[in-house]
Amino acid sequence: PGHSDLVVVANRLAVDRVVEEDGTTSWRRSPGGLVTALAPIMTRQEGAWVGWGGSPEEELDEPLEPFTHEGMHLVPVSLTERELVEYYEGFSNSTLWPLYHDVIARPDFHRQWWDTYQRVNARFAHAAAATAAKGATVWVQDYQLQLVPRILRRLRPDLRIGYFHHIPFPPVEIYAQLPWRRPVLEGLLGADLIGFQRRSDVSNFQGAVRRILGSSFRSNTVQVKEHDGGARTVGAAAFPISIDVDTITDLSQNPDIQARARQIREELGNPSTILLGVDRLDYTKGIRHRIKAFSELLEDGRLSVEDACLVQVASPSREGVDSYKELRDEIELSVGRVNGTYDTMGHTAIRYLHHSYPVEEMVALYLAADVMLVTALRDGMNLVAKEYVAARGGWGGVLVLSEFAGAADQLRKALLVNPHDIDGLKEAIMEATEMSAGEATKRMKSMHRQLITHDVNKWSRDFLDRLGGAVSAERSGP
Ligand code: G6P
Repeated sequence: PGHSDLVVVANRLAVDRVVEEDGTTSWRRSPGGLVTALAPIMTRQEGAWVGWGGSPEEELDEPLEPFTHEGMHLVPVSLTERELVEYYEGFSNSTLWPLYHDVIARPDFHRQWWDTYQRVNARFAHAAAATAAKGATVWVQDYQLQLVPRILRRLRPDLRIGYFHHIPFPPVEIYAQLPWRRPVLEGLLGADLIGFQRRSDVSNFQGAVRRILGSSFRSNTVQVKEHDGGARTVGAAAFPISIDVDTITDLSQNPDIQARARQIREELGNPSTILLGVDRLDYTKGIRHRIKAFSELLEDGRLSVEDACLVQVASPSREGVDSYKELRDEIELSVGRVNGTYDTMGHTAIRYLHHSYPVEEMVALYLAADVMLVTALRDGMNLVAKEYVAARGGWGGVLVLSEFAGAADQLRKALLVNPHDIDGLKEAIMEATEMSAGEATKRMKSMHRQLITHDVNKWSRDFLDRLGGAVSAERSGP
């Protein structure tokens, strides 16, 4: 056993490698919500984070050794270029990602990818086993690592193991297409507690366990037979993830960032309405549907480039995967068409930005945006929607939100849309641009109140509390 009482296992480490101007490299804590949320408990509890360091083995002069950064222990898992192609781009992002997102893109099933997924999951599990102290809590994150709970339990039966699934879990009719549907479910059931974003994900998972493994859940727990003949209780429940509300609120009150928001407005030519989309460039996000609806409103003459501008931040993502390359081409073609048709010398219809920005610039954008468009076709949660609400606080601004994003379960006062229904989406965009300030503020305040009491710290506390309780109360001997 190792020394850490709390171990997080995720595909990516909690730090990013940065190359300084003089060519030396250093590490910086990742800006993501998960890392921000877990950092305080990790430092308090001598926690460790197991994950891939972000570059293929071949690019490193020597393998990365475990190290400490800002009080957090980091345990790098090394992956070769080939493993990245087969485990990360392949099985994780060309098989599981499209399958779990309602087959919006066609999933590819390759036995070679599956072999590599198993081998890489075993490597993460061994790294976690070597890091965790006796009786420690290990928290495995997301679909890239679904086999880790079971492998880890075999290696270290003394551990309490939690797993959180950040993306949707599909209906069994879709899940059942997976040739490896049994071992994946068995992998997950190696955990004591399995967390999902939405109640519908929990019931889809329970349906899959019933139909494929023949075991039924009763009040969110199921009995799993162990190879030694004993039985173990596994829980499955919804724990909707959130954001670090305080960080976004502080930034939104920073005068420099507020000044930057005014500057952005001016730079766009002071349109009366700024509409904003912020997404990883991913086919699940409904970016094309959003552009379609907006361009039809321009065509219909209900909006004009003088009074409305759509800012679309599309951050580069998974660029080695074909479906992502194709999506980028399609979006850039349609942005070019729309702008070519409707732009004037002084005004642009869509300001398209294929970049990722630091959180300060994102908050300035949220402050500048009158209408936020989140039109995902399927999304586990969508934290951008929550960030917009946190940044706007009591100030109004309208959120148009897809009912197919997990966030729709919490942000009930958004204008909820079905993004496949282009006419409905157009009506929602018009309603948003025309909404009175009073009504917008009322809705935003109500969503903001929800968010303040449900931030990401509550999420991790709820999950870890339940995991602690689950283990002490529910372990039964052979
Ligand atoms: C989603 C997944 C995460 C993933 C992130 C970024 O939010 O749930 O597990 O880390 O996308 O994708 P990437 O492939 O760059 O890690």
